[in-house]
Amino acid sequence: MSLFQVLRNVFRNLDEDHFKILRIIEKNLKKYEIIPIEIIEKQSGLDKSSVEKLLKKLNYYKLVWCPRGKRKGYVLNYNGLDLLALRNLVRRNIIESIGKPLGVGKEADVYEGLSPSGQELAIKFFRIGRTSFRGYEKKRPTLHQYHSYLYASIVAAEKEFEALKILNPKGVSTPEPIARDRHIVVTKIFRGVEIPSAQYIGNPLKILTRILDNIVRAYEVGIVHSDLSVYNILVTPSEDIILIDWPQWIWRDHPMANIYLKRDLTNLIRYFKRRWNIENIPRKYQDFIDEVLKEIFNTA
Ligand SMILES: Nc1ncnc2c1ncn2[C@@H]1O[C@H](COP(=O)(O)OP(=O)(O)OP(=O)(O)O)[C@@H](O)[C@H]1O
Ligand SMILES: [Mg+2]
Repeated sequence: MSLFQVLRNVFRNLDEDHFKILRIIEKNLKKYEIIPIEIIEKQSGLDKSSVEKLLKKLNYYKLVWCPRGKRKGYVLNYNGLDLLALRNLVRRNIIESIGKPLGVGKEADVYEGLSPSGQELAIKFFRIGRTSFRGYEKKRPTLHQYHSYLYASIVAAEKEFEALKILNPKGVSTPEPIARDRHIVVTKIFRGVEIPSAQYIGNPLKILTRILDNIVRAYEVGIVHSDLSVYNILVTPSEDIILIDWPQWIWRDHPMANIYLKRDLTNLIRYFKRRWNIENIPRKYQDFIDEVLKEIFNTA
C-alpha cells in the first residue's frame, strides 16, 4: 500500500475531534516535552473519557506517542504532523494524491504527487533527526531532542520554501515552488536524476557552465546555497539542470557566506575534474571564483 493509501485509510477513520486533539498536541510542542493529558483535556473542552478514547485511537495509528513508562502525556509523531499538513494541502486543492518515492535522503523523503488539475508534483517531507531516531532503542534521543526535531523540520521547510520563492522568479534553476504546510514543501516535479546517477551526460562542460551560471545568479540575488554537491543537482537527458535542497541557504552578507560558497564551488569543480577531466572552466566563472577567493583572503 502506498503512503497516501495508508494515510487516506487513517484519515477516513478519524473525525474532527481527533484532529482537534492532534492540533492541541502540536500547539504545545514547544512548551512541553510530553504534553500532559490534563492540558489536552482543558484545551479541548472535552471530558476526560472522550479525550482518553480519542488519544487511544491516535496512539493506535501511531500519530502520537505515549512515552514508555509515562502514561500521563503524549508526544506528536511525524505521522501526526504528516496528517495535519496533508489535510491542509488537500483542502487547499494543492494535492490530490501521492505516488511513488522520488528520493529518500538523510533529512527528507520526497514523493511524486498529483494536483487536482493533474499537474505532477514533488512533495518533500522533512524528517530531521530520523536517522538517529531509527536506532531509537540504541541511541535514545531525549524527548526534548525529539520535539526539537519536529520543530526543526518545520523551520527547514519554511527556509527552503523561502529560498525557492526568492530564486525561482529571478530565473535561478530550482524546483518551482507551489506551497508549503508545516514540514512539507510542494514543488513542480523535475524529470531528472542526480548528476552521479546520470549516464547520459554528453557535454559535461556545458553542464558545469550551467551550474556555475546558476550559482552566480543566486549570488547576485544575494543567496549562497551552502550545501551544494553533485547530489543536490538534478539533470535531464536533454541536459537541463536544477539546484535542489535549499534549507541551509544563507544571505551573501553572512560572515561565513564566502567560505561556504568556496566549498560549494570546490566540491563541484573537483567532481567534474575527476569524472570528466575538466581542467579549464570558462574565464567568466574563473574570474568569479578568483574574486570569492580573494575576498576570503582579504577578510581572513
Ligand atoms: N523537484 C523535484 N523533482 C524531482 N525529484 C526531486 C525533486 N526534489 C527532490 N527530488 C528527489 O529527491 C531526492 C532528495 O531531495 P533533497 O536533496 O531535496 O532531500 P534531502 O533528503 O535533503 O537530501 P540529502 O540526502 O541531501 O539530505 C533528490 O535527490 C531527488 O532525487
Ligand atoms: Mg539532497
